[in-house]
Amino acid sequence: INSFFIYVLITYLIGSIPFGLIVGKIFGKDVRKEGSGNIGATNVTRVIGKKAGILVLLLDALKGFFPVYIAKYYFPSKYVSIIALTAVIGHCFSIYLKFKGGKGVATAFGVLLALSLKVALIVLTFWLGVFLTTGYVFLASVLSAGISWSVIYVLLDDIYYTFAGFFIAIIIIFKHKSNLDRFLEGKENRFIYK
Ligand code: G3P
Repeated sequence: INSFFIYVLITYLIGSIPFGLIVGKIFGKDVRKEGSGNIGATNVTRVIGKKAGILVLLLDALKGFFPVYIAKYYFPSKYVSIIALTAVIGHCFSIYLKFKGGKGVATAFGVLLALSLKVALIVLTFWLGVFLTTGYVFLASVLSAGISWSVIYVLLDDIYYTFAGFFIAIIIIFKHKSNLDRFLEGKENRFIYK
């Protein structure tokens, strides 16, 4: 077994940690049973409140940030891109939750931040723009995922990072299917917090 394989495994095991579920339990709630049922920061904010939501956002983002940030020192971009993808896969298909999990947005943002501050800030600005004009978190997330790989391509000019961004976008969009269905039925709620 080589060191890269071990690194991938550790990234997956860390990415799998369901911080939303853990923070929720600390507040005596199972976020899988309330609101959208998702374990992400959005639903934690919805079900518990802003502070808990920000904490989950931070922790879920760190699961993406650290593995990629550290990997950049040791591996070429071809390998770093696999680490990036693995962190998001861990969050979305958690080994601790029978391969269920979150929708990947916070973790993907952490990955982006580790890849490039410039790319992360552009995507964040776009995310905020969509969210503030429409009020839909899921729409901001899905559209940001949809553009991020092209921002990576233009600014970083790295085919491996671009592919990682593309596959992460596919996972994020696939994971938001229930939001999309609700949206098309006119039932997706605009964001409100307690
Ligand atoms: O990142 C998740 C967000 O885009 C949607 O969350 O809880 O509204 O399904 P939620």
